[in-house]
Amino acid sequence: NLGVVNIPVYVHVVYSNSNENISDAQINSQIAVLNADFRRTNSDASNTPSAFASVAADSEITFTLAGTFRNASTTTAWGTNNAVKSAYPPVTPSTHMNIWVANIGGGILGYAQFPGGSSATDGIVVSPQYFGTTGYVAAPFNGGRTTTHEVGHYLNLRHIWGDGRCNRDDFVSDTPSSDRPNYGCPTTAYHCRSNDQFMNYMDYTDDSCMNMFSEGQKERMRALFASGGGRAAI
Ligand code: ARG
Ligand code: ZN
Ligand code: CA
Repeated sequence: NLGVVNIPVYVHVVYSNSNENISDAQINSQIAVLNADFRRTNSDASNTPSAFASVAADSEITFTLAGTFRNASTTTAWGTNNAVKSAYPPVTPSTHMNIWVANIGGGILGYAQFPGGSSATDGIVVSPQYFGTTGYVAAPFNGGRTTTHEVGHYLNLRHIWGDGRCNRDDFVSDTPSSDRPNYGCPTTAYHCRSNDQFMNYMDYTDDSCMNMFSEGQKERMRALFASGGGRAAI
């Protein structure tokens, strides 16, 4: 038994205007959301429907802010091709999760690298308007759940619809199969002969409508921290 695993985090703020140079308070609000969501102390945990409450997990993963780097840039939109990581390289990615808060553009909220990729591009990127819960944030993605979702990818989670048809898997048995993402704030979503777990952080619903990881997702994430699993924790 690993017990609670802690991941130290470096935040690289890359800004082209003063709004994008987000405050320490905004950064801290995001770290607080990560800790709540991954320990299932989120205040909206009670919104998980009864059908899924028994598989909703305390993932026993915590996050501590290890340092913040601020970089002024003339680039106004970085895209999703890792350019921001080449410009501002990750710091000790073998032991720290690196997060770049930089405007991606094109309406993209965030993107992540799965475990096992190049260390030069390891980490996640989130646009500043979707990072944290206070300051320069934009509804309906002002609940910090974009970063929760991207950290899920960083810890090996797939989208719950498996990025395909009903027979494509996310490799997690307690997330029912689906064939599509859900958006907005549904009350029910029936696809592939079962009800979707649309309130899972790895779906595409609005921040205020997602509130759980599952036990199967917890197991998949934490397998990374077993010996030889591919990610270090301090
Ligand atoms: N589109 C992004 C991704 O697939 C993030 C989606 C986050 N959703 C949210 N409700 N905050 O990685
Ligand atoms: Zn995703
Ligand atoms: Ca599944």
